Amino acid sequence: MKILVVGSGGREHALVWKLAQSPDADRIYCAPGNAGTEGVGENVPIPTNDLPKLARFAKENRIDLTVIGPDNQLAAGIVDLFEAEGLRVFGPDKKAAQLEASKIFAKELMSAEKIPTAHARMFSSSAEALNYCDEVALPVVIKADGLALGKGVIIAHDRADARQAVRSMMEERAFGEAGRRIIIEECLRGSECSVHALVSGKSFRMLATARDHKRALDDDLGPNTGGMGAVSPADNWNAAREREFTGSIMQPLLEGLTRNGTMFRGLLFPGLMITQQELRVLEFNCRFGDPETQAILPRMRSDLLPLLIATIEGGLENVAIEFDSRVAVTVILASGGYPGKYETGKPIAGLENAAQLADVQIFHAGTKQQDGKTMTSGGRVLAITALGDSVEQARERAYAAINQIHFDGCHFRRDIALRPPDT
Ligand code: AMP
Ligand code: GLY
Repeated sequence: MKILVVGSGGREHALVWKLAQSPDADRIYCAPGNAGTEGVGENVPIPTNDLPKLARFAKENRIDLTVIGPDNQLAAGIVDLFEAEGLRVFGPDKKAAQLEASKIFAKELMSAEKIPTAHARMFSSSAEALNYCDEVALPVVIKADGLALGKGVIIAHDRADARQAVRSMMEERAFGEAGRRIIIEECLRGSECSVHALVSGKSFRMLATARDHKRALDDDLGPNTGGMGAVSPADNWNAAREREFTGSIMQPLLEGLTRNGTMFRGLLFPGLMITQQELRVLEFNCRFGDPETQAILPRMRSDLLPLLIATIEGGLENVAIEFDSRVAVTVILASGGYPGKYETGKPIAGLENAAQLADVQIFHAGTKQQDGKTMTSGGRVLAITALGDSVEQARERAYAAINQIHFDGCHFRRDIALRPPDT
């Protein structure tokens, strides 16, 4: 089978790496890919936002399956375009991808289906939102309705910050059209968990859980990032929570979606808050998480390819899904300055030595090959994953690998998977 993976991050390297292990995979392309995907597969220099060119490539090269990595292409309708061309593609169509692309769509569905989430109000007028800031209980969470590169959520601890967030989103349009409408919601307390499930209409299968570390610095300090590391399985998950998740979140969600004519086919990754009372949905993501995927896939024993195909074509109930019981710890190495303005173009040393270590997998994110050297080219540069029989062992292995790697300005968190969650 010929496979195309769309995207260029650590998540896409992990997908290419895992799919390449399938006995049914003959050739794998990645568009545009990075220095890590080249070699495992073949990079194709098409940017992720050139949807017609991607479809043309898939058609001309008789690609049997295209897997979409990033959220914005799903929201832009890449799946609808591929399907109209008769191409097999993994990911939800534009309508189903609203679950991630519009927080208001997701809230309205959750409210109709009584799915536990934070109490929220929606606003399309900044004057009304600003008035509400005067009376709402603090702290409060202000969210842009649309996609904002993971930056559209602000937790305000006082009224001035809340008002500033509203102005910046709705009046100054800091996130463009994404902030035309906003949500103001209660701030939940608890510990977070990222669940990954394959969804095919009304059926779904759990893949695995992970816990992401979103803040830039140790001890959960500093600004929010796309994710600085992950541990899988999540250390705050158990069988009782999984039953609750199925009964109070997944079943009503899939019934609600099918009732209003939305057929979700793809990877659903709800971000959950485990509060003292119950599980509550923070958001729905419609694609694999980054860096969760780099922790989850190295634990996966099953062949991923038939699972993706069963998600698209049906038969998900009958496929075997098996995971290694060991723990995976993934640590992100980021460029100096990230998540703010960061420097790129730095040579990376020590990758070969680190790759020799047992139970270590190095996934590239913001890297490129230049004059025979691997150089940094993005904010999140590498994701180092290690497997271990315990969190301690996986951590030791991941950080031992990191000790081998160097690039100018490199920074990473030293406490990934360390601190037990609050609940
Ligand atoms: P979202 O994009 O909605 O997942 O939000 C990004 C991050 O903001 C989440 O992973 C949480 O850390 C935080 N967050 C979002 N909504 C809430 C909430 N209602 N209460 C507390 N934290 C939240
Ligand atoms: N790590 C969070 C995300 O992929 O959205």
